[in-house]
Amino acid sequence: MEAYRIQGGSRLQGNVKASGSKNAVLPIMAATILSDEPSILHNVPLLDDVKVMCQILNHYGVKTRWEKKDLHIDPSGIFYAQPPVTLMQKMRGSNLVLGPLLGRFGEAELPFPGGCSIGSRPMNYHVQSLCQMGAHAEEKNGFITARAKRLQGSEICLDFPSVGATENSIMAAIKARGRTLIRNAAREPEIVDLARYLNVIGANVKGAGSDCIEIEGVRKLKGAEYSIMYDRIEAGSFLLAGAITGGEVFVEGANEDALASLLAKMQQAGLHVESSAAGVGVKSGNNRMKAVDIKTMPYPGFATDLQSQFMALMTLACGTAIIAENIFENRFQHADEMRRMGANIKIIGRAAVVNGVKKLYGNTVQASDLRAGAALVLTGLAAEGETVVENIEYIDRGYESFEEKLQSLGAHIERVAQIAEK
Ligand code: EPU
Repeated sequence: MEAYRIQGGSRLQGNVKASGSKNAVLPIMAATILSDEPSILHNVPLLDDVKVMCQILNHYGVKTRWEKKDLHIDPSGIFYAQPPVTLMQKMRGSNLVLGPLLGRFGEAELPFPGGCSIGSRPMNYHVQSLCQMGAHAEEKNGFITARAKRLQGSEICLDFPSVGATENSIMAAIKARGRTLIRNAAREPEIVDLARYLNVIGANVKGAGSDCIEIEGVRKLKGAEYSIMYDRIEAGSFLLAGAITGGEVFVEGANEDALASLLAKMQQAGLHVESSAAGVGVKSGNNRMKAVDIKTMPYPGFATDLQSQFMALMTLACGTAIIAENIFENRFQHADEMRRMGANIKIIGRAAVVNGVKKLYGNTVQASDLRAGAALVLTGLAAEGETVVENIEYIDRGYESFEEKLQSLGAHIERVAQIAEK
């Protein structure tokens, strides 16, 4: 196991390039299996979760090959197989093959992904949508199974705009007979990216990015080249790293639309935001930041995936910030670790009350999930002295070349072997 050792106190300064989006590439990789023809995906981030998705596709006979940042995916030799249980349980995003497998083979089986540290994460909306399209889908004995000779286009109304359930429903509907309407759909930019890819390979998806998505079923899809959108969560994390260190960071390839809710809050905190066709940047002011409240919400609301990093920023703000987490029921585990670095945070149900302090102090802390890990790195960059962030395998799942990018901005961070517990 590995850890990050950080010497806090350097102001981050400079430009960094955004990587391709993890949460866009995972569903797009799953969607490639709806076609018989190869696709080439450009701007693919080299991340542990992407490698796991490659292995899952390989298990079904899909060939994958990397050429630098391009991922060649050839589904022509695909066959139906029992699910690779251990692989799928490594990553929650493996559930994204449910819709494509069902659309392609008329059947699909997945091990129930189960809970993870941020919440229980059930699959009931995915299952309900597939049933709505005429599938016999159920959760039983630790597995989700779905069967349908050919899915039937229908009207689906999601109970909640779940990202994964929207993506699985879109992918299942691509080859269904007739028209599917998904109401109360998630509006995340990654869903727009998935729909764009699907349309490039011959699907007919309209309305992605709104809460009502319309899919007209087609029989056959082709292959294509497609460039994955930038990772807005990674970009936001770097902007927050700039802000928490009192520095100035510009993320090339980011755009302000997908980051609007974060940028508005950063401006309220007193940071100067600039955006151009080349990217988005943040400059710290001379005064201490002001505390501002946030509530996580489905897009375009404040992203839950940036909540922990924003909390890191608020630990040093002037005043009290209330951070409400409305998406996942257990996404405050970083708060305890931040407290061990001198932060003043109280958790009251689904809200964290963060009283800003003037200084944080380095300590050894543990990442409990991907975003919590990133947030602890940010906290360490701003703390006095040395911080060790353990369990960084979580960070490797979703941040490409994290330490190299931070080093290029002037951070003192290195990857070290984690000292085993006695
Ligand atoms: N939910 C249900 N039933 C369902 C599906 C979801 O109750 O059938 C609940 C979840 O438990 C959660 C809420 O609905 O409380 C939202 O979950 P959603 O389905 O929207 O999340 P997801 O698709 O599982 C994706 C991202 C997450 C991101 C969330 C929310 C991928 C691969 N994952 O998860 O990313 O936090 O949307 O934006 O796209 C991350 O990158 O760190 C990460 C966790």
